[in-house]
Amino acid sequence: MARVRIWIICGRKTYEVERVSEELGKLGVSHEVLRWDEISLPLDPQFTPDVVWHRYEPSVPLIFQFCVLEELERAGVHVINSKGAVENSDKASIYLLWQRHLREIVEMPETIITRDMGRALDFVKRHGVVVFKPLASGGGVGVRLLKWDEDIISRISYLLDKYGCILLQKFIPNPNYDVRSVIIDGRVVASFARYNDKDFRHNIHRGARGLRIEELKAWSESAYRCVEMAEVLASKISEITGLEMYGLDLLPGLDGSVYLLEWNAFFGFEGLEKATGFNVAGEVARYIVKFVK
Ligand SMILES: Nc1ncnc2c1ncn2[C@@H]1O[C@H](COP(=O)(O)OP(=O)(O)OP(=O)(O)O)[C@@H](O)[C@H]1O
Ligand SMILES: [Mg+2]
Repeated sequence: MARVRIWIICGRKTYEVERVSEELGKLGVSHEVLRWDEISLPLDPQFTPDVVWHRYEPSVPLIFQFCVLEELERAGVHVINSKGAVENSDKASIYLLWQRHLREIVEMPETIITRDMGRALDFVKRHGVVVFKPLASGGGVGVRLLKWDEDIISRISYLLDKYGCILLQKFIPNPNYDVRSVIIDGRVVASFARYNDKDFRHNIHRGARGLRIEELKAWSESAYRCVEMAEVLASKISEITGLEMYGLDLLPGLDGSVYLLEWNAFFGFEGLEKATGFNVAGEVARYIVKFVK
């Protein structure tokens, strides 16, 4: 039996998995979609692929996912994104890496990561309104606003109990949208805006509408500034983190500044493909097949 060259490892067949699989099919390279549950260690050396494209699954222990990635890397498999790059992409690492490498180039809202009630209270008092984010999340789940009011102590206690460690970030007033760019191999391949006037979170999963950058032109030049900033940051973030592909989220402030919100090692692109018609999955697939031996 011929060896399968490419594995897609995922928790479930999401839109992104289906689309990349479809595009790999069009390129005529053998590939297999495997669930994390279908992988046991040690791996069978006879059946390891050349390349793996993997998607994080929250219901599978992270340590298991990391063990699989490490072992694949030890076996000489090209893992996209590498374990090291994934470790550089949680929300705390993003802020710390920004501070070390990117602060001269782009702004990022002031952030604190803490387990200390006093430090958290000081931070909220100083800023008035802050955004709380779970350290590992996606789709805006768990992200909420905190205001300096009489309930603040009980709200922070609740979050410290629930998450063990909290990340608070200054809230940046904005024109109700942010800009998501997809970067592959250090290059911006596509961008679109996520507009939401019903929720401060601009995630598609929170009801945001995907808009082409040109559609925003009439009323917001800031969208262009975000795209220009994405072009500047694309290869720098790839170098700093080791990410071969990622989603970059930039937020325009009302004062004309552009803020870095985050980069996502496991970016969704359904909204982008549907809003722009751009074939993101095709770009991902073409990048993956470069590593088939
Ligand atoms: N500091 C901020 N000021 C204003 N709005 C913010 C701020 N931080 C986040 N937001 C809004 O909340 C949304 C969700 O935040 P964030 O992207 O950090 O979380 P997420 O759950 O990781 O989303 P993703 O699926 O992109 O990983 C952002 O897209 C943005 O619209
Ligand atoms: Mg986000």
